[in-house]
Amino acid sequence: MTYDFDELLERRGTDSVKWDGVRDVWGRDDLLPLWVADMDFRTPPFVMEALKRQLSGGVLGYTRPCADWAPAICDWLLHRHGWQVETGWISFVPGIVRAQALALLCFTRPGDRVAVMNPVYHPFFLVTQRLEREVVFSPLVLRDGHYHIDYARLEQDLDGCRVLILCNPHNPGGRVWTEDELRRVADICHRRGVMVLSDEIHADLTLPGYRHHPFATVSPRAAAISLTFMAPSKAFNMPGLASSYAIAVDPSIRRRFQTFLEAGEFGEGHMLAYVGCAAAYREGEEWLGQLLDYIQGNIDFTEQFLKERIPAIGMIRPQASYLIFLDCRRLGLPQPELVNLFVDKAHLALNDGTMFGRGGEGFMRLNVGCPRSVLRRALEQLEEAVSHL
Ligand SMILES: Cc1ncc(COP(=O)(O)O)c(C=O)c1O
Repeated sequence: MTYDFDELLERRGTDSVKWDGVRDVWGRDDLLPLWVADMDFRTPPFVMEALKRQLSGGVLGYTRPCADWAPAICDWLLHRHGWQVETGWISFVPGIVRAQALALLCFTRPGDRVAVMNPVYHPFFLVTQRLEREVVFSPLVLRDGHYHIDYARLEQDLDGCRVLILCNPHNPGGRVWTEDELRRVADICHRRGVMVLSDEIHADLTLPGYRHHPFATVSPRAAAISLTFMAPSKAFNMPGLASSYAIAVDPSIRRRFQTFLEAGEFGEGHMLAYVGCAAAYREGEEWLGQLLDYIQGNIDFTEQFLKERIPAIGMIRPQASYLIFLDCRRLGLPQPELVNLFVDKAHLALNDGTMFGRGGEGFMRLNVGCPRSVLRRALEQLEEAVSHL
């Protein structure tokens, strides 16, 4: 079956954060939204069918995980990422940011130091700060068009930290960390007694030519110090379903986290989450293959468009996912003027690079998870705005 990713969907009026939330954030409705990380594609039909089947029971009663939920996750992880996971290692979590917050509450105390590698997905440090833990920023290095880890700096920065929140693959840089890179991070964290929360929400969006390595698989040390968060939400465009899960290989980390979840019943999923997740993983391979080809096409299109028509703006080419960090530094604009160029002149709603922490200055994050005709329109609006500078 061939899926149609060119279809234009009307998402306004559906309480979509990406579309209807534009007014909440920018106070206006005339911006084309290419910000929040969901895609303007239909959630796959086999997921929608599974939800409809579940609803057809006619009662929204308390619902246990469907029998295939954990096995479907295990089979998917083995087949897709070569990770042999036992069903008992998996816990439902009600969203990945929420799971990070729960893990911080479970494994750290107020005042503890938690490291992140910036620029990075902003809730990593915002949630940590709101929970009154101290954030240690250990900056990534942008070299040869990609982010790299400064191991010497990381080793120093981790001194006295209890936790590192790792973005694997990385958002907003789109890096798929190699096995060797992750192993070095694991060695440093192990030496320093630092636990790793590995956020792997973008794993299934690893693009052709790259391979995702679950952090816990790169070495026995990595498995011993980590708690991993995953979900079908990004890849299958179902983040509104809150159908995420955590995996702990290490028995003591697992016991502690599962006990914490049980105490507050945080690990009780809802009736649609389990069947939605199982359907995505059981039936999603072909759809996902076509999606990744389409996203790759959108990334190629963006790269070519910028090169030919807006050469002053470059991009970090993502190795995973549909988020592109646009490098606008050559425009030489202070950040407020850069934001103004995108919003007031180009009528586009993107994420301001500085929201991802230091290192984001001069960047804007573009979401290309949309039909190509929409992407073309957005880039043409940007071209027009830049031509008037
Ligand atoms: C790295 C990363 N983690 C977590 C999330 C959000 O996950 P959730 O909606 O499950 O909290 C996102 C969304 O963009 C993300 O990019």
